[in-house]
Amino acid sequence: MRGIDKVPVFPITSRINGTSVLEIGGCTISDLAEQYGTPLYVFDETTIRSICKDFLEGFQSHYPDTSAVYASKAFMTVGLAQLLQEEDFGLDVVSGGEIAAAVKAGLPMHNIYFHGNNKTREELEYALEMNIGRIVVDNIHELDVLDELAEKKHTVQSILLRVSPGVDPHTHAKTTTGILDSKFGLPIVTGQAEEAVKKAMKSKSLDLIGLHFHLGSPIWDMFPYEEAIPIALDFAQEMSRNHGMDLKEFSPGGGFAVRYLIDQEPPTPAAYANAITNAVKNGCNDRDIPLPKLIIEPGRAIVGQAGVAVYTVGAIKTVPGIRTFVAVDGGMGDNIRPALYEAEYEAVLPNRMDEEATVPVTIAGKYCESGDILVRDVPLPPVVPGDLISVPVSGAYCLAMSSNYNMALKPAIVLVRDGKSQLWRKRETYEDLYRNDIS
Ligand SMILES: Cc1ncc(COP(=O)(O)O)c(C=O)c1O
Repeated sequence: MRGIDKVPVFPITSRINGTSVLEIGGCTISDLAEQYGTPLYVFDETTIRSICKDFLEGFQSHYPDTSAVYASKAFMTVGLAQLLQEEDFGLDVVSGGEIAAAVKAGLPMHNIYFHGNNKTREELEYALEMNIGRIVVDNIHELDVLDELAEKKHTVQSILLRVSPGVDPHTHAKTTTGILDSKFGLPIVTGQAEEAVKKAMKSKSLDLIGLHFHLGSPIWDMFPYEEAIPIALDFAQEMSRNHGMDLKEFSPGGGFAVRYLIDQEPPTPAAYANAITNAVKNGCNDRDIPLPKLIIEPGRAIVGQAGVAVYTVGAIKTVPGIRTFVAVDGGMGDNIRPALYEAEYEAVLPNRMDEEATVPVTIAGKYCESGDILVRDVPLPPVVPGDLISVPVSGAYCLAMSSNYNMALKPAIVLVRDGKSQLWRKRETYEDLYRNDIS
């Protein structure tokens, strides 16, 4: 296989130019690396916008009253938030910091959904102060605190309850969230979800307008959604009967898969749209529930494919008969997913896309951990120090989980489109590392 054969996992504008160099958004990876240095994260604007449209139009064509909110935990910059607003996306946030980013980006607050299993009092106060659209209450403690804070502020806050339907989506154990044994959400079977509904319906400061669940990520099949949606709708029907709750909004979360490896075939946005909207429409019709507004929360699927990591090769170590380690200038500091989830990636040499990949190598990071391996046993053309390596599908949950481990500097981020590049975030400097130190 050659680098060129892996182009389908790269952003949709990717092409190989006349000198066999990978171009994204009309910019060659080599020019970008020269201009901005490495490690570098390149995001393709066209891919982000196109996938936003696929999701929103895919769902709205079956279910017109659908809104999309981007799960900003997947990756967030102020520039991205503004771009998503132009695509008619709201934001799913999980912290005061993510709310602050939305405020900084000038997003309308009514389209923000505040999630999280342990929102602090300060974060809830900030959310109320900012008139955030929806708070997705995760547990009874949060319900009590929010009720008290909203009452004190003489306001009525719209809320959804995050329920735990007890459905296993068969994702990695560390990204499974909708099972009973999870820190997230109010379990339906134990009666805790009903207790929360009862309390919320009695509150004068909280307006319970709907239910949410998020099963996990990435979900490769439709059956977890098809199993969980009727469970949530049964619960909604019962809560309507028992406590007068109206299901005005219903959010079956995110979790939409992306293609990391060339031989994977994730469901398309249209397939998710078809399955989820059918399950909601049929489920509501069967139970005589008026169709609620549907909220979807894609994160990974919006930015995953759009992002490409670019590294420079340094030391190469061959252990005869065992393996060749090709070390790059990034690693677990900018992408912890392989170490955390055994995540797998493709890799290419972006300057030699037409060469046959003949040598299986293991791409290692530069951090002081044996577990700092980015890609295991990936065939590449013969690699030499100074070569560039590009890792596709690095847009989601890489930079968002990045750290300064080993006092490493977080990479620069650029956005490309129509042959132009724009810096979205500067590379950190050593001064940034001890900016808050007091000595
Ligand atoms: C509540 C909630 N919604 C949406 C998402 C987004 O998931 P994904 O990025 O897989 O679409 C997450 C991810 O953890 C989540 O916790």
